[in-house]
Amino acid sequence: MRTQVVIIGGGPSGLLLSQLLHRKGIDTVVLERKTRDYVLGRIRAGILEVGFVNLMREAGVAERMERECLIHDGTLISYGDEQFGIDFKDLTGTPVVVYGQTELTRDLYDAREAMGAKIVFNTENVEIHDADSDAPYVTYRVNGADHRLDCDYVAGCDGFHGVSRQTIPANVRRDYEKVYPFGWLGVLSDTPPVSDELIYCNSDRGFALCSMRSATRSRYYIQCPLSDSPDNWSDAAFWDELKRRIPGAAAERLVTGPSIEKSIAPLRSFVSEPMRWGRLFLCGDAAHIVPPTGAKGLNTAASDIHYLYHALVQMFEEGDSEGIERYSEKALSRIWKAERFSWWMTGLLHRFPEQNGFDQKMQRAELEFLRENRHAQTVLAQNYVGLPY
Ligand code: APR
Ligand code: PHB
Repeated sequence: MRTQVVIIGGGPSGLLLSQLLHRKGIDTVVLERKTRDYVLGRIRAGILEVGFVNLMREAGVAERMERECLIHDGTLISYGDEQFGIDFKDLTGTPVVVYGQTELTRDLYDAREAMGAKIVFNTENVEIHDADSDAPYVTYRVNGADHRLDCDYVAGCDGFHGVSRQTIPANVRRDYEKVYPFGWLGVLSDTPPVSDELIYCNSDRGFALCSMRSATRSRYYIQCPLSDSPDNWSDAAFWDELKRRIPGAAAERLVTGPSIEKSIAPLRSFVSEPMRWGRLFLCGDAAHIVPPTGAKGLNTAASDIHYLYHALVQMFEEGDSEGIERYSEKALSRIWKAERFSWWMTGLLHRFPEQNGFDQKMQRAELEFLRENRHAQTVLAQNYVGLPY
């Protein structure tokens, strides 16, 4: 079998790329290791930059999102007894959009299926061959049968644990990594959000975040040791700890309820360079990971897809390889800035085991400066709403 672009991974990156290319008449096959239900069972973040929303519009999948999303003009930050707002709309002219990654992925699957997309689930042993030649191909196994797909290009959208990045030879690749000494314990609950805006909280007991999915569904997080297990956190213990880390007024009005999901995510910053090797491109989590503090995970995936989509259209429609040749450089330039922002937000808001009294004073001084200084707030806002593509 033959296709123009083999897309490995049916997460948001792979589906969005497939949908965008299909609308330009470019043929793709998506190979996904799991099932659709499994992919849709993963609970992830839900803050979208406007650039991402525009890409969803271009892909023709923004209808439900535009109807059901929440527009957020700003965010709240608290430390000790202090709380202040960052007004994105006022500082940058742009809000952010709250719409869960699960919903967005569902919309993409529905759109792909409506267009008769070729998505192969339960693929095993996916291998990319001859990516550095003019005739790459991908082999895989489904239901015990082996298959071969010849193609022009391969998009590695298979997340952090996928095969695509590993296909690039070790002597070509360079990985950069920072692992943080804590995780986030997250709880999803069918309770109304405690605040209209997200609240990022720096507390002596550790970081906490009040977020939401809708007017009736909330998402909360607390910083926890990596050695903790969600099983050792009862719902009551979670709510109790959350209340001790968020502003007093918010703690008083917090509505608690049974958790419908509870998990611990480690925090990591990671970038693999380059993001192209011959005819293989890495996109999204396959190439980079950010800690969740700046809500950049999904948004960095979207900017890769933007660059790759335009590069492939330029190649297939005009025979011009400029976008392809510069894909890695363009994508990485934006990625590193999102890495810097997520790393900075993480440092500003968490308790670190090695932090001494001086370090804590530095953190507090930075938070106070941010509260008082419009320029500092503008820098945060510009990064949060998303740097231009
Ligand atoms: N073969 C086929 N599919 C694979 C393979 C493989 N060898 N390895 C992984 N996959 C699939 C996974 O099952 C998953 O569905 O690739 C998909 C990758 O999806 P994600 O991990 O969601 O990555 P991505 O699409 O880049 O999404 C960006 O942004 O908010 C962050 O981490 C969050 O998922 C989010 C990401
Ligand atoms: C979330 O709602 O899950 C969320 C929001 C903001 C973040 C991280 C996660 O920075």
